[in-house]
Amino acid sequence: MKKTFLIISTLGLGILFIASCSAGGENPGIEYAPNMYTSFAYEPMTQLADEPNTINPHGMNMRKAPNHTIARGQMDFVKYTMEVTTEAYEASAGLKNPLLASEYNLAEGKRLYNINCTPCHGAEGKADGTIVTDGKYPPPPSYDSERIKTTPEGKMFYSIKYGKNLMGPYGTVLNPNQIWMVVHYINTLKGTTTAVADSTTITN
Ligand code: HEC
Repeated sequence: MKKTFLIISTLGLGILFIASCSAGGENPGIEYAPNMYTSFAYEPMTQLADEPNTINPHGMNMRKAPNHTIARGQMDFVKYTMEVTTEAYEASAGLKNPLLASEYNLAEGKRLYNINCTPCHGAEGKADGTIVTDGKYPPPPSYDSERIKTTPEGKMFYSIKYGKNLMGPYGTVLNPNQIWMVVHYINTLKGTTTAVADSTTITN
């Protein structure tokens, strides 16, 4: 019994040794369970060289959506696509926040604001974020300043989406709904909005 075990383990070690010897450089040696490395599943984007998809263009497995297709629930992205010009900024004053200042929207706005905006604007919007107090960045206007208090929410939406002077754009970080939530939250910092009793939740 002992002898058999010894023979089997020596054989096993020998095979492992030979297998590992063949490895090196570009050659990974003998692969154990190669499907763990090279999936049999179709790759959606890559153009498979040895097994190209003969039906779709470019041998791709996933079909490109027809031009001008809008993903479900993303109409907002089109609705708020504006030019980046001073005229478009002025025109954005007419945009109205489509969301209720519900507790949920305000809480979500606060969460997103705390993540993205506090480094400059500060937790209370008083332009005392860490990079400003460190002297590394000029202070943005404080939210309780006359200037921001009188800035229409449409313009705030526009500036957050497309950026303004030293402030970068957040249109690729926050979707339109999220920007409107942040605008509601800023309004509470400005003191122009208070939460309405509404428990509607938006999952977007
Ligand atoms: C890197 C620093 C920085 C960050 C981060 C930043 N801002 Fe700003 N923000 C500024 C500066 C600077 C201005 C002043 C721009 C100007 O009018 O020249 C500004 C202006 C604004 C204004 C006024 C826009 C207007 O039309 O006058 C709003 C509203 C605003 N920021 C909201 C936000 C929100 C919301 C976020 C996070 C999603 C954010 N900011 C992130 C620096 C920043």
